[in-house]
Amino acid sequence: MTSKTQVPPRWRNDVERILITDDQLARRIKTLSRAIERDFRGREMVVVSLLNGTIMFLADMIRHLSLPLRLDFMGVSSYGAGTESGELVFTKELRIDVRGRDVLLVDDILDTGRTLSRVIPKLRALKPRRIKVCVLLDKPSRRVERVKADYIGFTIPDFFVVGYGLDFAERYRNLPFVGVLHSHIYKQDIGRVMSFRKRR
Ligand code: IMP
Ligand code: MG
Repeated sequence: MTSKTQVPPRWRNDVERILITDDQLARRIKTLSRAIERDFRGREMVVVSLLNGTIMFLADMIRHLSLPLRLDFMGVSSYGAGTESGELVFTKELRIDVRGRDVLLVDDILDTGRTLSRVIPKLRALKPRRIKVCVLLDKPSRRVERVKADYIGFTIPDFFVVGYGLDFAERYRNLPFVGVLHSHIYKQDIGRVMSFRKRR
């Protein structure tokens, strides 16, 4: 998947190129939502969305779902500011009771699978009727855990991407497109962490 659209000048130092444009995102999310709507056949669902990366994807997707739904969030955070997922910490628990319910679990990106392989059993313990997994992006080449998504927006190669909710060290979530982060950004960040350590 390549896009000829240019990175806006403001982001050129940070983003190497646009991988998925806002138009491509909008079109794909519309078709994805239709498929979800068909599969749930009007049954009420509980959408469980993982914070913080899903904000834009979720907002755009659920407005296409014309079926009764309830929405809740689980806060999941992996320690460390790097591009590797570290130790997983739950920062917000679910409040809606999902017992006997149809759950749509939403995440931004399925990478190594470590996050979902911890979240799914935690959710399953709450005894929902079924859990369907929906991710905007899938990087299958990076998988270390056996996790599969039922709905996938885009399958992408092993690039570190930012924008449309996805971050690097909590930045870039506001970009309206999905772009490939310049490697000098994370190398520079590792440099900062190292010099910080040395000072202590
Ligand atoms: P996993 O646990 O390795 O599957 O990764 C899941 C989480 O890692 C995602 O929810 C993201 O927060 C983060 N992540 C993985 N790959 C990327 C990426 O390319 N850009 C931004 N965040 C990523
Ligand atoms: Mg993240």
